[in-house]
Amino acid sequence: MSNQPISFEPPRGMRDFYPEDMAWRNRVFDAWRQTATLSGFQPYDACVVENLELLQRKAGEEVSEQIYCFQDKSERWLALRPEMTPTLARMIAARQGQLPFPVKWFTIAQCFRYERMTRGRKREHYQWNLDIVGEESVAAEAEILACAARALRAMGMPDAAYRIRVNNRALLGELLARLGVAAEHHAAVFLALDKRGKIPDEEIAKLMAAEGVPPETAAKAFELLAIQTLDQAATLAGVESPAIAKLRELFTLAEQHGFADRLVFDMAVIRGLAYYTGIVFEAFDTERKFRAIFGGGRYDSLLATVGGAPTPAVGLGFGDVVVVEVLQELLGGAAAAARDGVAVGFMFPEQRDVAIRLAARLRSDGTRVDLGLSPQKPKQFFSRAGAGSCRSAVFLGPDDVANGVARLKDLETREEREIQL
Ligand code: HAM
Repeated sequence: MSNQPISFEPPRGMRDFYPEDMAWRNRVFDAWRQTATLSGFQPYDACVVENLELLQRKAGEEVSEQIYCFQDKSERWLALRPEMTPTLARMIAARQGQLPFPVKWFTIAQCFRYERMTRGRKREHYQWNLDIVGEESVAAEAEILACAARALRAMGMPDAAYRIRVNNRALLGELLARLGVAAEHHAAVFLALDKRGKIPDEEIAKLMAAEGVPPETAAKAFELLAIQTLDQAATLAGVESPAIAKLRELFTLAEQHGFADRLVFDMAVIRGLAYYTGIVFEAFDTERKFRAIFGGGRYDSLLATVGGAPTPAVGLGFGDVVVVEVLQELLGGAAAAARDGVAVGFMFPEQRDVAIRLAARLRSDGTRVDLGLSPQKPKQFFSRAGAGSCRSAVFLGPDDVANGVARLKDLETREEREIQL
């Protein structure tokens, strides 16, 4: 260690969670857990350290380049996971003979990515993963999105404040095939087109050229992104397009689930991960001021890629960073800090036993109590209680104990009522 004073900051891109930050984090985690459970998803978990080999893909994706990796003392290549999906695929493949498919699983996983730091992007985040493995039909996409919409409502996000944008890679595939782009190049074209708006179009065209896509075809691929509506896409893809049928079915199911008002078709949603094979989606704030709130899609080939039997799958990753930014802007920075419970204090050592017994009684009744640990002056006690997280306060002096009655003060309304000691 050098003689430099140690910095009070966490490493760049990593976060400390002070109690006021935990209030927001818990609001989000509680909504995730409650809605996943309510929708019949089961929890699972795995270690944040994963085999590097499982996480690396050769597809030219951003995530693969952002992995925090290291060799352990036995020279094994390990990594801090950048996402949960490969681990989920590994865990499912390991028990494929025993699981009652379709399985519906969820987890809240801390993930690490060596990102260029911008708003909404950290080098560590928590990600709610909600996945259905073993279901071919669009009912799975609908179930996942319905659950995510419920979670947003549970966090206090107004329905009007966000939109879920959907597309289908199979639709892009059908359209690219019509342009004469061979199927083996589609995955690379998707990843290239996903970079639209992030890097100049000439760079994207170069990426496609590297895949053997001729410049005229690349230009046509860009034109596909100008398609505005599902009907326009249907005209190009043809009436019997299976990809269009899937999207239409999703819109119908969304009506039944009750989130159709927030679902929109968007040809520009392609996603930056190589393993998606079908419907893909991303949720954004309606004004598009922030990064994606969540993203996901169908990945029917990943189980086979990690060595399992071919199994259809669909899921989403929903991070804790962007949603809190959006909620704080909409609801105000202090909105998560709901006050509840009672602060209990006392003036002299003689009142301490009564204060402890009062705290014990209230706690047994299920009331949250912040008990003062040493005698305090009234001003000191009320100023700490006022700045704290309790809704009301009781301060015991000699008279209160002598009379067996104390005053419970509401710290917001300033109203008082008597309680028996
Ligand atoms: P992803 O789009 O890479 O997908 O990440 C999903 C979400 O995680 C993003 O929409 C965002 O909320 C959050 N997120 C990602 N990177 C960061 C970051 N550096 N800082 C803050 N938040 C971040 C996946 O990871 C897929 N594995 C999701 C999935 C699950 N697909 C199927 N199942």
